[in-house]
Parts: sequence; structure tokens; C-alpha cells
Amino acid sequence: MSDPTTGASKAPRAKVTPPAILEMKRRQDPIVVLTAYDYPTARLADEAGIDILLVGDSLGTVVLGYESTLPVTVEDVLHHTRAVSRARPAALVVADMPFMSYQVSVEQAVRNAGRFVQQGGADAVKLEGGERVAEPVKRIVEIGIPVMGHLGLTPQSVLAFGGYKVQARGEADQERLVREAQLLESCGCFAIVLEGIPARLGAEVTRALRIPTIGIGAGVGCDGQVLVTHDLLGLFLGRSPKFVRRYAALADAMREAFERFRADVKARRFPGDAESY
Ligand code: KIV
Repeated sequence: MSDPTTGASKAPRAKVTPPAILEMKRRQDPIVVLTAYDYPTARLADEAGIDILLVGDSLGTVVLGYESTLPVTVEDVLHHTRAVSRARPAALVVADMPFMSYQVSVEQAVRNAGRFVQQGGADAVKLEGGERVAEPVKRIVEIGIPVMGHLGLTPQSVLAFGGYKVQARGEADQERLVREAQLLESCGCFAIVLEGIPARLGAEVTRALRIPTIGIGAGVGCDGQVLVTHDLLGLFLGRSPKFVRRYAALADAMREAFERFRADVKARRFPGDAESY
């Protein structure tokens, strides 16, 4: 790998592991997480020094054209996890367990978690929910697969929430979320995603835990931050939530490139001599 500005070759990064992620919290070193669903994105994000690549079930909405994450299957996430793993990233690869892949029984959850590691090359899995996933989380951790939790606005519960709404605004819900985060920590999770909750609560949960919190719409007080890569790149064609910061406008760049290619072909400006044999 070479430094883009100096051309000097950089030493390869050590593989990021769950203990290394825990150590980052101890050192107060913010943990940087992005979603990745394909080989080139995984390579580029890894070269940029991203700590964790999450093969999120958000692939359903940002890549596969679904209206929610609910139709995403184990096979979908496996297919994309394999593509990300083929990049052999130093970043920790987390496969997101999709809706109905861990809710039926502890046995089903363990089997599917095993598939993401054995067949997908994932380093860890992520499950949404608190108390209701405590047993599957415990068993998956027991067999040696690291687990990331996910609390707050968990998109697989969109039907129950009645839409993508900020969660835990009331005192009782906030107390429950802190309890559930502590429960997930006691079940062995190495980190917890906190999504769509008040910033003050994100900071409170972060203080209450030994394991790191990764925020998405949960304020700056979390130990790390995650964004959906297509949101960050300006490549998502739907409406992005308030917590998204755009670092590029790739949809505009792609549209313009496609229009220029079309115009060149129509005007017989492509291919030129340099592009011909
Ligand atoms: O599916 C996903 O991308 C996620 C992140 C938004 C945390 O779960």
C-alpha cells in the first residue's frame, strides 16, 4: 500500500480484533465504522483506515432497492459478506444478521451466525434488540463468535415503531435502554450500536458500559460513529436522515459521467484513436 501524497509505501495495518476495539475505548480513541457491501468499497475503506466494516442489512435499501431491511435474507448478507471478505481487510468485518435469521430459536441464531463466519468470512455478527436477544447472543458468544449489539431505532422493528422515529425519548424507555445495554454487555457483546436516540442518552449509556458504543444518530458522546457508506457518499437516492453528513456527491458525479458517455457515443466521439486497436 502506498501513501497517495508521498508515494512512500505504508506498513500494512494489523488486523482489527474485538479486544483491539475494547482497547480503543479504554484509550478514548474514537472507533470509525462504515458499511460495505462490495469488494472495491471494502478495499478503499480499509485503505482509509476504517476500523470496522459492517455488512449491514441496510444493503436492502441502499443497494437492492427494497423499501426496508425486512426482505433481506441470510443469502443476501452472505453474498455481500463474501465480497467484503475477499478484500482481506485489516478492518474487522461484521455481518449483520437479517430479520428472521435469529428470532425463531437460539439454535437457528447460532447456525446462521456460524454461516456468516464459516461461509462468509465474517469476523463477528450483529443482532438487533435487547432482552429478547440475550439468549442467542450468549450462545453465539459461547461458541466463539464475537457479537455486536444494536439498540434504539432498530430498523428491523420499523413496523412495530410505526416508522423510522427517534426512540427512547421518555424516562421509562431511557431507563430500559440503559438496562438492556448493560444486559448485552453481560451477555458478552464486544460493542453496541446505538441508533436514533437522544444524544444525552447516548452519552449516558457510553458512560455506563465497559464495552464501546457506536453511535448513528446518537450524539457525539458515543465511543465511535457509524454511517451508511451510500449516505456519506451522496449515493443514496432516497431521503437521508438528519444525522447523515455527506462527504461527497457521487450520485451527481455518476449522473454527469453517464450523460457525458451517452453524448460522446451519440456524437461518435467515443471511442477515439487512443481507445481503439
Ligand atoms: O444495516 C446497517 O447498516 C446498520 C447500521 C446503520 C448500524 O445496522
